[in-house]
Amino acid sequence: MDFRSDNTAAVHPNLISRMAGINTANSASYGSDEESKKLKNKLSDLFGSDLLYALVSTGTAANCVALRTLCPSYGTVLTSDESHLNNDEGQAPELFLSGGKLRTFSTSDKKFDLVAAQHWVDKATKMSPHAAKPSCVSITYATEWGDLYSVQELRDLRSFCDHNKLFLHVDGARFANGLVANQFSAKEFVAILKPDALSFGLTKNGALQAEMVILFNQDFKNDFFYIHKQAAQLMSKTRFISAQILALLEKDLWLDLAIHANEKASQLKECLKDHHSFKIVNSAKTNQLFVQMNEKTKHVLEKQGCLFYHWQDDIYRFVTSWMTSDDEIKAFKEMTRALASS
Ligand SMILES: Cc1ncc(COP(=O)(O)O)c(C=O)c1O
Repeated sequence: MDFRSDNTAAVHPNLISRMAGINTANSASYGSDEESKKLKNKLSDLFGSDLLYALVSTGTAANCVALRTLCPSYGTVLTSDESHLNNDEGQAPELFLSGGKLRTFSTSDKKFDLVAAQHWVDKATKMSPHAAKPSCVSITYATEWGDLYSVQELRDLRSFCDHNKLFLHVDGARFANGLVANQFSAKEFVAILKPDALSFGLTKNGALQAEMVILFNQDFKNDFFYIHKQAAQLMSKTRFISAQILALLEKDLWLDLAIHANEKASQLKECLKDHHSFKIVNSAKTNQLFVQMNEKTKHVLEKQGCLFYHWQDDIYRFVTSWMTSDDEIKAFKEMTRALASS
C-alpha cells in the first residue's frame, strides 16, 4: 500500500514501449525531430489555441520558466499560501524572477483569495512605483490540497485578471486529475480561464520527467525560448520526452490514468468516511486525500506496511496514482475495517 505520492509510481509501460520504438536510429535533436513535430500538432488539437510549448524536466522548472516569462523583475506574482511555488521550490521562482516577489493570499479552503488579493492590488497600485508591480496570478489546478476551482471560480479569476491587467499562470502538475474531476476538456478549461501560460505536468500522470510549459499569450513569443534555454532546460534528446507525451495524449490515455487515480482516491475516502479514527479534512475531489488521525492510529497503519506522508500537525496525505491497484485498496479496506472494530 503505497500512498506516498504520485511520483512514487512507475513509468507507464506504453511510454516505455514508445520510447523503445524510436530507440533504433539517429534523429534530429533539440526539438527538430519527428516526435516533437507531432507533439506540436497534438497540443494544438488538444488546446484548440495558438500556442508555443517548451519541454522541461521538472514541475519547478516549468513554473520558473512560465513566471519568468510573465513577470518582470519589478513585478509581483500573486498566489496562494499553499502553492507549491511558494513552499516547495527552494526559492527557484524568486531566483528566476530576479527581484520579483511572490505574495500570497489564501481562502479558508486553501485556494487563491480574490478578495484579499484585490485589497492588496489596490494598495500596491496607489503605492506605485514604491510597491512591486502587481503582474501575474498563479493558481494550481488541481490544487495542492486535491481541490478544484469551479467554473464560476475560474470565471471570477479571469475577471479579476482582466480588471487588474494581470497575467495568469496555471500550475498544472496534476492538470489531468483536475480536468477529469471537473469533467472539462483541456479546450474547455482554456476557453473559460484563458490562461497566459500553463505548467503542464505529465510526470505524476505516468511519465518519466516529462513536463512542459505551454505559452498561450503570443505577446511573449520572442522571449520565451531564450528564457527556456537560459533556464538550462533545452534538452537535446527531446524525442524521448515528446514520445512519452504523445503516448499519453494519443487515445486519451492521460485522462484514463487520471480517472483511475481519482477513482482510487474516492475508494480510499469511502473506507475512511464515518470512521471514528479518521477525519477527512479536504474535499478529496481528485487523487489526494488529507486525513487527520492520532499518532497511535498512524503507527497501526505504518506497522501494516501502509505508506503515506505526514503533511502538517496531525494531518497526513494519501495520494493515489495510475498504478494504485485494487489489491492495495482491498488491503486498505481490510486494515481500516479491523481498526473500526478494535
Ligand atoms: C502543485 C505542484 N506543482 C509542481 C510540482 C513539481 O515539482 P517537481 O519540481 O518536484 O517536479 C509538484 C510536485 O510535487 C506539485 O505538487
